[in-house]
This record gives sequence, structure tokens and C-alpha cells, in this order.
Amino acid sequence: MKPPILAPSLLAGDHGALAADAAAVAGLGLKWLHLDLMDGHFVPNLSFGPQTLAALRRHGSRLFFDTHLMLSEPHRYVDAFAKAGADRITIHIEPAYDHAAALGAIAALGLKAGIALNPGTPAESLLPVLGLVDLVLVMTVQPGFGGQAFRDDMLPKIAQVDRWRRERSLDLRIEVDGGIDLATAALCRSRGADTFVAGTSFFAAPDRAALAASFRAL
Ligand code: DX5
Ligand code: ZN
Repeated sequence: MKPPILAPSLLAGDHGALAADAAAVAGLGLKWLHLDLMDGHFVPNLSFGPQTLAALRRHGSRLFFDTHLMLSEPHRYVDAFAKAGADRITIHIEPAYDHAAALGAIAALGLKAGIALNPGTPAESLLPVLGLVDLVLVMTVQPGFGGQAFRDDMLPKIAQVDRWRRERSLDLRIEVDGGIDLATAALCRSRGADTFVAGTSFFAAPDRAALAASFRAL
């Protein structure tokens, strides 16, 4: 099993002080920062844009920007997010566009490429692109909003992706996102997840250092 990674989601941070929140994440010794981009179309909400990533870089963040594009046309924005400082770009399988070409464009820019699935999307929809990514993001809530309850009916999907990973000797991370706290992360970990996005549970934690240490020990 890959060592666990905690990726705090800046969506749950203070949007008037995002650079300070990113610095606080780095200050705990964490390496990843999850950035949620929404277009008001693929999901019924808006968040921030590439200029936000660029500003975080300008303010000195050297975290690994785990960029989650909840966009109907993610392929149109790959260049912009690459220029803005993304390290990984994860795109959704649901909208109709050339997924393989978009993942290829991400990789050609020297970035890591991930694919995400909504709760209603069967694991099998991943199969055509499984060899093109090094991260599968299994959404454990319907994307669009932080603070929702974890869906434990996603656990079999995590286990299925883990089975394919082992059967096909694929080197990929399995990330979960939505309603993740220490308890739900442990459930996901037991099914093979190794990368944990935490928005509300991280930013509302009374002792973030203790929380980060507990995630490290998952
Ligand atoms: C949901 C986003 C998540 C969100 C998670 O659409 O993809 O990354 O920030 O928030 P919590 O951890 O509060 O469920
Ligand atoms: Zn996300």
C-alpha cells in the first residue's frame, strides 16, 4: 500500500486569506494542497480560477497543487492551469470531450494527470483511460459543495479500482474527496484509498497538527 497523503482542500479555507491558509498547511509538514475549480455548469457552484493558483505561487507556496477541475470543458483550461502552477490536473470522466487527448495534453506539459468519477458514475467508465492516469479520484459526495456527508456506498467502487490496480500492476494513487475525516478516511483506506482530500474536517479541526499526524498513521 502506498503511504497515505492528506490533501487539505482550500475550498474550506478563508477565501480572503488563501495564501495564509496554504502557508499553514505547509507549516504542518504537509506536501499537498487540493484546489477545487468549479464552473457553475458541471457543478452548480463557483469557486476560484487559475489566477488564484498563480497568486498562491506568487505568495511563495511550494506545495504540490492537486488541482481538481469540476468543469464541463476541462481541456480548454489545461494550459491556463499549467501556467498558473498546477502540479496535477484531475479532470472528470462524465462530460463529453476527448478524455484521452486531454490527459495526454496534461502529461505533455509535464504534469501529473488524474481522472475523477462522480458518485453516480460506474467504475467501469474508467477502463478506457486507466492506463493514462496515475491517480483516480473517487468522489465520495456529489461534487460542488464542501461540508457534505460521506457516502459509504462508494466503498465498493474504491475496492474495485484497487482490484484493477493490483490485477493490472498499475502505479496509481486512489484519492477520495468529500466528507473525509479520520473515521471515513480509515474506511476508505481499508478498501485501498491512499490519498485523502479533507476540507471541512481539516480547516475546522481544533488541532490540525494532531489531525495531520493521525492521517499520516492511517
Ligand atoms: C467537493 C470538492 C471537495 C470539497 C470537499 O465538490 O471536490 O474537494 O472541498 O469538502 P469536504 O471535505 O468539506 O467534504
Ligand atoms: Zn475536490
